[in-house]
Amino acid sequence: DGPDAGALRTPIVAVLGHVDHGKTSLLDKIRGSAVTAGESGAITQHIGSTAVPLDVISKMAGDLVDPTDFDLPGLLFIDTPGHHSFSTLRSRGGALADIAILVVDVNDGFQPQTLEAVDILKRTATPFIVAANKVDTVPGWNPNPDEPIQVTKEKQSDRASSDLDEKLYEIIGELSDNGFSADMYWRVQNFQANVGVVPVSAETGEGVPDLLTVLMGLSQRYLKEEMSVDVGGPGVGTVLEVKEARGFGTTVDAVVYDGTVREDDQIVVGGLNGPIVTDVRALLKPKPLAEIRTEQEFERVEEVAAADGVKIAAPDLDSAMAGAPVRVVRDQDVDEVIEAVEAEL
Ligand code: GTP
Ligand code: MG
Repeated sequence: DGPDAGALRTPIVAVLGHVDHGKTSLLDKIRGSAVTAGESGAITQHIGSTAVPLDVISKMAGDLVDPTDFDLPGLLFIDTPGHHSFSTLRSRGGALADIAILVVDVNDGFQPQTLEAVDILKRTATPFIVAANKVDTVPGWNPNPDEPIQVTKEKQSDRASSDLDEKLYEIIGELSDNGFSADMYWRVQNFQANVGVVPVSAETGEGVPDLLTVLMGLSQRYLKEEMSVDVGGPGVGTVLEVKEARGFGTTVDAVVYDGTVREDDQIVVGGLNGPIVTDVRALLKPKPLAEIRTEQEFERVEEVAAADGVKIAAPDLDSAMAGAPVRVVRDQDVDEVIEAVEAEL
């Protein structure tokens, strides 16, 4: 008997990289393709986070992924800003991540925030792959939308194909200069020892099947043990943002990475003046298809299990702090939970 799928949580995948290298576009593509595939309802979107279930991933990856090979429930993507002033958000994303995608524009190569992201990944010992993005901008590129990269690469002129190779080897060289042995992902045998480079286009979807396949494969192979958490236990998460929500006052947008948060839970949230003890008033998720960055309508849910993004409405959140922990009080003494939150502040 295989392990119980319900006992494994969704791996958290941070998307990091220099400004304008295409992080959000890549996530938009993943969301958009799924919409085209008629799977929009199955995709949950949150502030900065997007949960993509396994069946959607396997549809998008086509022949590359056999869903019966996997027992992880899917992937939770966290978008991060690339602008230099947002280094705290990048570190936060990096710290939450089980695995990461470093997005690098094939034309621009390594830039300051690419290097910063590499440092974060090193510091947090987060395994990552590189999405060498915008392959469609290689001169003479002939797009084959949503095709696996090797399929479309074979259909290119020798010139375009070798132009791309040149750019990819520059990126591989930059990785090596920064202490990472790297290669084209299809040549990598051991992803723990080598960083795989996946050429993609967020614009045409070329290489996206490969990217999802490599991510699922890596997660399944190397993260499975870490993903065996007590999904039914008391929820633990990190506050990403503190925000006003119409009708709910101050709320926190959080990523729950362990256990479950329920509507009737007491929680402890890290705040500017120390831990805040409060009761959940509502758990809110954006309606299916709601845009991640637009003003959204929310729907109430009864519970949220790791890993997932959620907006938590509760009294007294005015002094809650981005980056601080959130912990559910269930079957423990509230003082113990306060101590645990204090220790993480
Ligand atoms: P920040 O969040 O500001 O760090 O930027 P980002 O990395 O999220 O980049 P974003 O997705 O906003 O893309 C920046 C620009 O590049 C947009 O104009 C996109 O349309 C364009 N772009 C992204 N990916 C591709 C691609 O694969 N091909 C082409 N041709 N353009 C792309
Ligand atoms: Mg972006």
